[in-house]
Amino acid sequence: MEVVITDHPEQVMADIIAGAVTDGATTLGLATGSSPLPTYRELIRRHREDGLSFAGVKAVLLDEYVGLPPTHPESYARFIRENFTDHVDIGDVYSPDGMDPDYRAAALNYDALIKEVGPVDVQILGIGSNGHIGFNEPSSALTSRTRIKTLTEKTRQDNARFFDDDLDQVPMHVITQGLGTICEARHLALVATGEGKADAIAVAVEGPLSAACPASILQWPPHATVVVDPAAASKLRDYDYYRYVYENKPENQRS
Ligand code: F6R
Repeated sequence: MEVVITDHPEQVMADIIAGAVTDGATTLGLATGSSPLPTYRELIRRHREDGLSFAGVKAVLLDEYVGLPPTHPESYARFIRENFTDHVDIGDVYSPDGMDPDYRAAALNYDALIKEVGPVDVQILGIGSNGHIGFNEPSSALTSRTRIKTLTEKTRQDNARFFDDDLDQVPMHVITQGLGTICEARHLALVATGEGKADAIAVAVEGPLSAACPASILQWPPHATVVVDPAAASKLRDYDYYRYVYENKPENQRS
C-alpha cells in the first residue's frame, strides 16, 4: 500500500485515473460523496482543456441507497451523472438497483454485472469517519460480496448534510459492493481530506487488518494507494516515512 500525503490530492488522484485511461483502462469504479468531487472536477477540466478522453470506458458505482429512484436528487446514480459522467465522454455507467424489492437478487445481479464488465481497472474510494468503504460498515466480512447493508447511525448523521440535515430522510439501507468485490479491482485509490478523516485513516493504514475498520482491507491487495492531505494524514505514526518514500519514488514507478 502506498500512502501519498499531498496538498493536492485531486491532482494525484486525477493523475492515477488519467494515466490508467491513457494506458487503455476500460472500466472505472466510481465513488460518490464529497471526497472525490475535486478529483471529478479536475478530470472534467482535463477532458475539456487537455483532451483527456474516456471514450470506450465504462463505469460502475460502489453503492446506492435502497428506496431512492435514480431520479432522486440524492440517489448516487444521479449524483455521479451530475458531478462527473454527464460532463465527459464516458460510456455506460452502472449502479445497483435500489428500487428492486428483491434486494438479494438486485445485489447478486450487480455483482455478476461487475464480473462481466470488469475487472475494474481503477476503483476510486472515499472513507467514512467510522472506516467504511463503499457502505461496508464496521463488522463487514473482509471477503463480502455485493449485498444489502444497514447504515450505522453515525453514517446516517454524517450524510444528513445531503438531505437538508434531516436524519429522517436519510435511508437506512443501501446496496453496496462488498469488500471482496472491491478488492478485485486492479488498483484501489482512496482519497481523504480534512481532520475529520484523520482517525479513520490512521486505523485503516496503521491498525490491524480487521473487519472493525473495513478500509484496513486496503492493506491486502497488491495495488492500493491512499491519497491524503496533511490534515487527514495528521494522525499517521509514520507520516515522515510516507513523505520520504513518495519523494524518492523511482521515476518508472510513478503511475
Ligand atoms: C460513497 C461511498 C462512501 C463514501 C464515504 C465518505 O459512494 O462509497 O464510502 O466514500 O461515506 O463520504 P464523504 O466523501 O462524503 O465524506
